[in-house]
Amino acid sequence: MRYKDVYAAWQADPEGFWMDAAKAIDWDRMPTKALFDDKAPIYEWFSDGLVNTCWNAVDRHAEGGRGDQVAIIHDSPITGTQQKITFAELQDRVARFAGGLAARGIGKGDRVIIYMPMVPEAVIAMLAVTRIGAIHSVVFGGFAASELAVRIDDATPKAIIAGSCGIEPGRIVAYKPLLDGAIERAGHKPDFCVILQRDQQPADLTPGRDVDWADLAAADPVPCLPVEGNHPVYVLYTSGTTGAPKGVIRHTGGHLVALNWTMKNVYNVDPGDVFWAASDVGWVVGHSYICYAPLIHGNTTVVFEGKPVGTPDAGTFWRVISEHGVRSFFTAPTAFRAVKREDPKGEFIKKYDLSCLETVYLAGERADPDTIIWAQDHLKKPVIDHWWQTETGYPVVANPMGIEPLPVKIGSPTVAMPGYDVQILDEAGNELPAGELGAIAIKLPLPPGTLPTLWNAEDRFVKSYLSTFPGYYESGDAGYKDEDGYLYIMARTDDVINVAGHRLSTGAMEEVLASHPDVAECAVIGVSDELKGQLPMGFLCLSKGVERDPKDVVAECVQLVRDQIGPVAAFKLAVVVDRLPKTRSGKILRATMVSLADGKDFKLPATIDDPAILDEIREALQELGYAGG
Ligand code: COA
Ligand code: AMP
Repeated sequence: MRYKDVYAAWQADPEGFWMDAAKAIDWDRMPTKALFDDKAPIYEWFSDGLVNTCWNAVDRHAEGGRGDQVAIIHDSPITGTQQKITFAELQDRVARFAGGLAARGIGKGDRVIIYMPMVPEAVIAMLAVTRIGAIHSVVFGGFAASELAVRIDDATPKAIIAGSCGIEPGRIVAYKPLLDGAIERAGHKPDFCVILQRDQQPADLTPGRDVDWADLAAADPVPCLPVEGNHPVYVLYTSGTTGAPKGVIRHTGGHLVALNWTMKNVYNVDPGDVFWAASDVGWVVGHSYICYAPLIHGNTTVVFEGKPVGTPDAGTFWRVISEHGVRSFFTAPTAFRAVKREDPKGEFIKKYDLSCLETVYLAGERADPDTIIWAQDHLKKPVIDHWWQTETGYPVVANPMGIEPLPVKIGSPTVAMPGYDVQILDEAGNELPAGELGAIAIKLPLPPGTLPTLWNAEDRFVKSYLSTFPGYYESGDAGYKDEDGYLYIMARTDDVINVAGHRLSTGAMEEVLASHPDVAECAVIGVSDELKGQLPMGFLCLSKGVERDPKDVVAECVQLVRDQIGPVAAFKLAVVVDRLPKTRSGKILRATMVSLADGKDFKLPATIDDPAILDEIREALQELGYAGG
């Protein structure tokens, strides 16, 4: 079958298409139908099936002839260690750890937060939670205590599983103080915490609250608990326009079916192949393509604890690929930009035999043509851009390499995958013809495995995604389609920015800056950056009467964002200005400031209150080395 036939087959009979895909999953009770639309526009999939995620990711392979196959390769250049775990070992470790959680009272529907570095135990914890029908919420290690606290209060976990430390180039990040700080700040308190002691920096356990990972790992194993198809498998928080992150829910049945489908059709791997997504379990890419999809599909997954450069050099990616026989490799464009900067001629690439590698996939942010061309030229492999979001959980627009490799058009993540009817809409919600720029929206219902709603926030779900364009899901991205149906992603339509493939909210940073006692008003924008794609930049207006050196206020604000949001925000650029450019109705002209900073032409907004302020902003930007400075 060709791509257009598969897409047409889905369009003609979505129910049949997904019921057919569902056959690849082991159900304890087969669902009677795929789509449950009685609560439209809230849709669910496979709700009346009974199924367990961990069974499908681990046990069925362990018991079905893949017991000796390596399930997880932990490759950690930052600690100089490697570990291989077979499906049989994984089954034992997960079943025991799940037994340890169950013995301490964790059961179906309970939430468990996981705050861990890139170690196999992070994946084991995720799988163990799903084994007993509990719901995990993984929080990225680069987030600060207050971000963790916000998630604790929203998810109200019974337990938190954390590592004693993470390891970043040149420093050890002790997680325990962050965990303690978060629990102290949060209104909700977990019953207990499990701490994985790492040799690099073990933590002092808090008596009465903390238990050692090793204790749970030695518990008696427990079996998988079948849950309903619409039982949440996890909640993953992602940035929205405000400081309150959105808890994206994933339902068990659709998650299993859709992720499994993508492994062959999009990523073109067969069971037994080695698949590597160089991301972090704290992000959706890590959930879907480090942990779940490869394991569900019977692949070997690589859990990589390192950076594209500096651990120890710009050849790390190629070393891992050749050493472990990776067939499909997935990373963020920013990682390639980092490698390209250190090794523009691809000298490291030549040192390794990359014959195992078939295809490279990029997502998480815009893949700039220079980066794609560099990768194509040096790797001599197809480099596939594809577009998706935390909300969708897997590719919306991609090149379906396992169905039919379509011609690559650089700058486009290619075409809509079956399940997704992607449209470009004008402000009134009319579908726009090819070539015209508009909001990227997806016709409802979204396919299985996408978010059914937000945790504790159905109204926010409807308001954020479904109300601007009734009948559609609003992606928050803008772009256009060409005559061949190829999509081009141009920009976000909201205050979300993308820093090194990490999704961050400028609104959240503004909330932090506004809490500084000397800041009367502020704005944060995302400016273009050669390495990270975008960087946040803050503009601070000081309160009347504050006579301090602006440099000191800037330094305090930079520290404040690091402390409140985390180092991952990479907030290092800020400047004090007298006023912010606004419309006559008082709206800050952030888009105009972005154009100024990036040195792009822009039309002076007709509604601008005082155009002279733009000259002040330009000067401030030039001081920071932007706007031609
Ligand atoms: N725990 C604690 N701190 C973390 C962290 C973690 N898990 N991850 C990142 N940080 C810290 C870093 O140490 C850094 O701190 P610093 O300001 O003290 O230097 C800061 O957060 C920013 O980190 P990072 O975004 O990794 O930037 P970098 O400058 O260290 O490295 C790249 C640049 C491009 C190499 C890096 O961003 C990268 O590998 N990006 C790929 C992103 C990716 O895989 N995204 C997933 C989407 S697919
Ligand atoms: P996240 O939810 O963190 O995966 O971020 C999703 C957002 O990242 C999307 O809404 C886009 O803004 C951006 N993004 C992801 N993939 C791509 C891509 N291939 N091209 C352009 N932008 C992308």
